[in-house]
Amino acid sequence: MAVTSDAARAGASVGLTFDRLTIEGGKPLRGTVDVRGAKNLVTKAMVASLLSEDISVLRDVPDLSDVRVVRGLLEIHGVSVTQGVQPGELLLDTRNVRRAHVKEIDAHAGSSRIPILFCGPLLHQLGEAFIPDLGGCRIGDRPIDFHLDALRKFGAIVDKLPAGIRLSAPNGLHGAHIHLPYPSVGATEQVLLTAVRARGTTELRNAAIEPEIMDLIAILQKMGAIISVEPNRVILIEGVSELKGYAHRAIFDRNEAASWASAALATKGDVFVKGAVQEHMMTFLNVFRKVGGAFDVLEDGIRFWHPGGALKPVVIETDVHPGFMTDWQQPLIVALTQADGVSTVHETVYENRFGFTDALQKMGADIRVHPRGFAAPNRRVPRRELEQAAVITGPTPLHGADIEVPDLRGGFSHLIAALTAEGTSTVRNVGIISRGYENFGEKLKALGARFSVDG
Ligand code: EPZ
Repeated sequence: MAVTSDAARAGASVGLTFDRLTIEGGKPLRGTVDVRGAKNLVTKAMVASLLSEDISVLRDVPDLSDVRVVRGLLEIHGVSVTQGVQPGELLLDTRNVRRAHVKEIDAHAGSSRIPILFCGPLLHQLGEAFIPDLGGCRIGDRPIDFHLDALRKFGAIVDKLPAGIRLSAPNGLHGAHIHLPYPSVGATEQVLLTAVRARGTTELRNAAIEPEIMDLIAILQKMGAIISVEPNRVILIEGVSELKGYAHRAIFDRNEAASWASAALATKGDVFVKGAVQEHMMTFLNVFRKVGGAFDVLEDGIRFWHPGGALKPVVIETDVHPGFMTDWQQPLIVALTQADGVSTVHETVYENRFGFTDALQKMGADIRVHPRGFAAPNRRVPRRELEQAAVITGPTPLHGADIEVPDLRGGFSHLIAALTAEGTSTVRNVGIISRGYENFGEKLKALGARFSVDG
């Protein structure tokens, strides 16, 4: 099956020697985990290096399969990517950028969505770009229309071919007025990475303002870009003709931090997430507290634990920043199966992000998914057409089962469910988890999880 081989390939690329875990659940996770740079910044920061003909230094880069994919794509375009002196330090030398063969691009890009962000930098450096069919988690349609519309506004010519998309800019790129239909993270990054070296000024409206985007803007500013973030999701970019390399420590991975926090809560454990920063997790922390979890913000991280007593149900709507991130709902839902009452999660970002709950139901959870969402009073966010809702009634004891990881965040939630459940679970396709969780096997071991690995 394609999913299995993708998962195994992703895992193997970061040295994962197993694709299946047998987990003995029912034991609280206790101890410390380190989180490093955010997957959703690091991969974009690596692409940003292409905007200069220089050397950039990126620190706190985690060893993830998505990072390996971007590294491969950069290397086939002539970028030399080497390990720095410090662990997690990457040196990106972009002084010899060149065209890559379509076959090579296709072979490297297979399982990621990042290739779409190569468009702007490659158009600036080479006057053309080729983007293969995109991969990434299967959590909805995940179209790229915002990206292509924006690139056309910058003056790019977009040709759709059977194997992918060819872009060219024979007359260079110029500044544009762009109003995104939705504050898409990727489309905002696309505009930033293209506008910084376009002729003239770009005004971007309805931009995403996630912390990882602010960190990308910080990197671009270090490179020489002029970008101002205005009120009401407006970003102004004054194009410059040349950029230099950067040295930057990546923002921590708040998705990974929220995942370990949820694991601590669901398993009635106590986990110190070293590297977590309160400022970028405030919305998550509010919900964590409302559910009945305890946390303590320390100098070098955040401690999360289950303080005893019953957990409480909540109503959550996923949203763009500063709302509750779509990537946080999957791990937290496992803890909500243990809360005393009915919780509702409205998923407003993706149209198909509750597939992982099938496995939880198999393990004894009471979760009803409403594919078209449902009306509820006091909603904070107006409905999007693609909305879905999950209603979780707890507490339900979970029991071990044989389950298969469907996507990255759903996969981590499967691990948490298996660790929470009484009895033995077999979790297949765990290679996918290495797309966004560095050394998750070793981290689980350090937290006292009981499991064995299989090929
Ligand atoms: C980024 O995806 C993240 N991925 C996702 O992380 C994250 O869930 C998402 O942002 C939201 O925070 C990376 O950074 C690599 P979007 P992205 O464009 O940029 C629709 C994870 O597990 N849309 O903000 O692809 C889209 O279908 C993941 O780490 C269009 O309609 O997300 C979705 O409904 C998975 N047309 C919504 O916008 C477009 O051209 C938001 O997507 C682009 C997007």
